[in-house]
Amino acid sequence: MSTDVIPATDRDAFYARLAANHYSPLWTLMGGLGPEPTTTLVPHIWRYAEARELMVEAGDVVPLEDALRRVLGFRNPGSLAHQRTGATDTLWAALQLVLPGEVAPAHRHTPSALRFIVEGAGAYTVVNGQRVAMEEGDFLLTPNGHWHEHGHLGDGPVIWLDGLDSPLVSRLNQYVLDEEDDLQQVDADLPAPFVNGMLAKHWGSPAKVAQPLVYKLADALEVIEHLRDGEGDPFDDIVVEYRNPISGGSVMTTIAAFLQLVRPGVDTRAHRHTHSTVYHVVRGSGHSVIAGERVEWTKGDTIAVPLWYEHSHHNHSSEDAILFSYTDKPAVEALGLGRTAASA
Ligand SMILES: [Fe+2]
Ligand SMILES: [Fe+2]
Repeated sequence: MSTDVIPATDRDAFYARLAANHYSPLWTLMGGLGPEPTTTLVPHIWRYAEARELMVEAGDVVPLEDALRRVLGFRNPGSLAHQRTGATDTLWAALQLVLPGEVAPAHRHTPSALRFIVEGAGAYTVVNGQRVAMEEGDFLLTPNGHWHEHGHLGDGPVIWLDGLDSPLVSRLNQYVLDEEDDLQQVDADLPAPFVNGMLAKHWGSPAKVAQPLVYKLADALEVIEHLRDGEGDPFDDIVVEYRNPISGGSVMTTIAAFLQLVRPGVDTRAHRHTHSTVYHVVRGSGHSVIAGERVEWTKGDTIAVPLWYEHSHHNHSSEDAILFSYTDKPAVEALGLGRTAASA
């Protein structure tokens, strides 16, 4: 029997009965689906000059007791009101400010976090009892479940980029937070090879095997310099991935992180992928073409490229352009959803 002989009112009544009894007719849900992933989110750039001014204003307006952590999140302009998004559907990005003498008390949570220090010196973070100094260009990890607090013993503001998988973890309804009133018990200064899991105690109780918690910019730049005269990646030029040397994989289970040099005169090829990316400009300037739009960037700017947006990078200056970036690629691939397409 053809459906068009059924009066619409009968169908409406039938759907109302289904809804009232908690059924979902799949055929009414499939209309929005197609062969390519989609998102309401859009590419966006947060310029450092503006973001920094607002952060410093936050330092004046909001005492740390009220904020606990002075973090200014970058919310994608394509976010819907009810959506717990960040810069992309899965990745949070923010600037965090710590002023001299301030302490952000210890907490831990199920989202994993990274920091990239943008400016200032003298701040530190304590991760699971290990105190790690924060210097400009440092890339630090707080894998999920690790206690962490921040403090600042130096002069002047310290500002860093925070990157988390919290929008992803929120969508899975797994965002859990523990807070402590007190600061952590800090271990005595440990030798770096011990902390990094390169050398372990071989008697008594099993050694705590840890992964590196800090990667220095100078080390990453040394590797990039070594690779500079090579062919490079067609889509990212001279790009290196920060790795967990113990697992050989990405730095965290859900997040991969990279440092890349876009050499003077280079125009990369465009591609798109089902993982999303947050870029942060460490040095130099250039532009990206994202979904056909030219986005000029310079030191300190942060750029969101949501999933499946075509993008390429360009450096038409005579100076190196260095970009830090992080993606949700490990999470997307673990779900069997990894897909990349090069543009013609
Ligand atoms: Fe945190
Ligand atoms: Fe890409």
